[in-house]
Amino acid sequence: MCGIVGYVGEKQAAPILLDGLKRLEYRGYDSAGIAIHNCRHTSLIKTEGKIKVLEEKLGGAYPEGGVGIGHTRWATHGKPSDVNAHPHTDCTGDFIVVHNGIIENYQELKEWLQSEGHVFKSETDTEVVPHLIEHYYDGDLFEALKKTISRLEGSFALGVISRREPGTIVAARKSSPLIAGLGEGENFIASDIPAILQHTRRVYILEDGEMVKITKDKVEVTDFTGNPVAKPVFEVKWDAVAAEKGGYPHFMLKEIHEQPKAFKDTMAGRIFLEKCEIKLDDVHLGRDYLQSIKKIFIVACGTAYHAGMVGKYIIEKLTRIPVEVDIASEFRYRDPMIDKNTMVIIISQSGETADTLAALRESRKLGARVLAITNVVGSSVSREADDIIYTWAGPEIAVASTKAYSTQLIALDLIALYIAKTIGTISEDTIREIATAMKKLPEQAKTILDSVDTLKTLGRKLSEHQDVFYIGRGLDYPLSLEGALKLKEISYIHAEAYAAGELKHGTLALIEEGVPVIAPVTQEHLFEKTLSNIKEVKARDGYVIAIANEGNEEIKKSVDDVIYIPKTHPLLSPILTVIPMQLLAYYAAVARGCDVDKPRNLAKSVTVE
Ligand code: F6R
Repeated sequence: MCGIVGYVGEKQAAPILLDGLKRLEYRGYDSAGIAIHNCRHTSLIKTEGKIKVLEEKLGGAYPEGGVGIGHTRWATHGKPSDVNAHPHTDCTGDFIVVHNGIIENYQELKEWLQSEGHVFKSETDTEVVPHLIEHYYDGDLFEALKKTISRLEGSFALGVISRREPGTIVAARKSSPLIAGLGEGENFIASDIPAILQHTRRVYILEDGEMVKITKDKVEVTDFTGNPVAKPVFEVKWDAVAAEKGGYPHFMLKEIHEQPKAFKDTMAGRIFLEKCEIKLDDVHLGRDYLQSIKKIFIVACGTAYHAGMVGKYIIEKLTRIPVEVDIASEFRYRDPMIDKNTMVIIISQSGETADTLAALRESRKLGARVLAITNVVGSSVSREADDIIYTWAGPEIAVASTKAYSTQLIALDLIALYIAKTIGTISEDTIREIATAMKKLPEQAKTILDSVDTLKTLGRKLSEHQDVFYIGRGLDYPLSLEGALKLKEISYIHAEAYAAGELKHGTLALIEEGVPVIAPVTQEHLFEKTLSNIKEVKARDGYVIAIANEGNEEIKKSVDDVIYIPKTHPLLSPILTVIPMQLLAYYAAVARGCDVDKPRNLAKSVTVE
């Protein structure tokens, strides 16, 4: 989730690019860079760290020129560093590229380009792009980009300049946002509207499969085969603050809506259906090692801990290796029984949570191999773990974790399939069945997000209550814990979750007329059992909202409201079921007038014990 700004016009490009990049700072990044052309030469300055560091590097003397591209990078392939920062160049330095997204087949392209004599400087996936453009350039930059993108798999928003064609920026979009800004005697490209809102409110919003060529007087949009596309001009009516949130009133809502894309990115380049293979670049667990594992610990805090609880069910089911899930602040002080036959999975969005990091260090000290699931490349957890799965969800700004949680679940599914395949506890048919269902998740998530009206109404209803209970069985139980945490942390409504069968062992005493109970019933083999627990609630006049798979008509007879979600493989259902839970919490918090993105007393990254 990086930022792109490009300018071509009569003014000096550098201050416009730096200002635009600053307006994207809220999204989070770890390095920044700009490239500027004038008729005589090109300047390229980039650095690890914030834009302030980049400005210090410039020493107050901005490079002159009316054409340029700038970038803020949030590391995916390759740690945050000066060399990995964008822009990137080809061997000659003639072609300069900024990129958002993930090139899934970069490794294969890189090997091919190296065999053709190209020399690479960075560890990034992006660097294949300028080298491909160099390879294909034959006097027309736009054509070279067209040929280049026909070789790319994955997602990209690309901006390219070249001293061979000064005065032009070419750009292309696939599954990563890109706009062209329309000015007078100047034009822009950007990944997000706030970057250029100072200069123009008139934009073309590019769709997937569209490219654009801009000069100071002209903006031409085509499809990837070069056919012109007539774009409507979009007039931005939002103010700068609303624009930062992509038009959403809160970052949390924006991040909830980003889940379909985040799901795709987490799976990108990792699932190969034809070969029935799961490929995890930074995981190096051999068959001998995995066969020697007697136990897996999953250690994390808060929402990440809830993801771990879902992971336990899935890993045990597919690999038959026992899994214990621990809260990091307890694990580190309880003298856990760990040795070289124990594998530890650490989950942390930020990769900086103090207790989680301490648990990682303790586990390694005791001889365990540690695999980390994290969202932040270059974080402490990612640097210290033996193996890593990045969730590639993009920066999460709202304090309440949403897309980080659901992508952690996808990462856990991937590792469960990977281990099960390696040690032979799963058939190819089952891998294919689960992996095929995983590929459908982005579209299914979109379906849920496209129909939120019921959730708005139900969220408002919940906002009027002091106590809400969540009950579920099987995978619906850890999911309920996450649903309850979301509600309490942002709406300040007291919320508790129970394994549905536990209700009658105490908590049922709290159920009286109108008390809301949210009951996910996605696990069909447990449906009848949960239904009888729901009936126990209804017999005390509780108010039950069920979350059920599409087609479950039976549930309607026993509850007050039903939220339907698309049906998926039962092991994957928490990835979809959590979305209505996140939205219920969100709308309840909004109805109560809470500060949704920054709930009281909480911080995004907890770096103290
Ligand atoms: C709740 C939430 C927290 C975090 C927890 C761990 O919405 O975000 O419970 O999950 O503080 O943080 P990370 O995953 O960064 O280690």
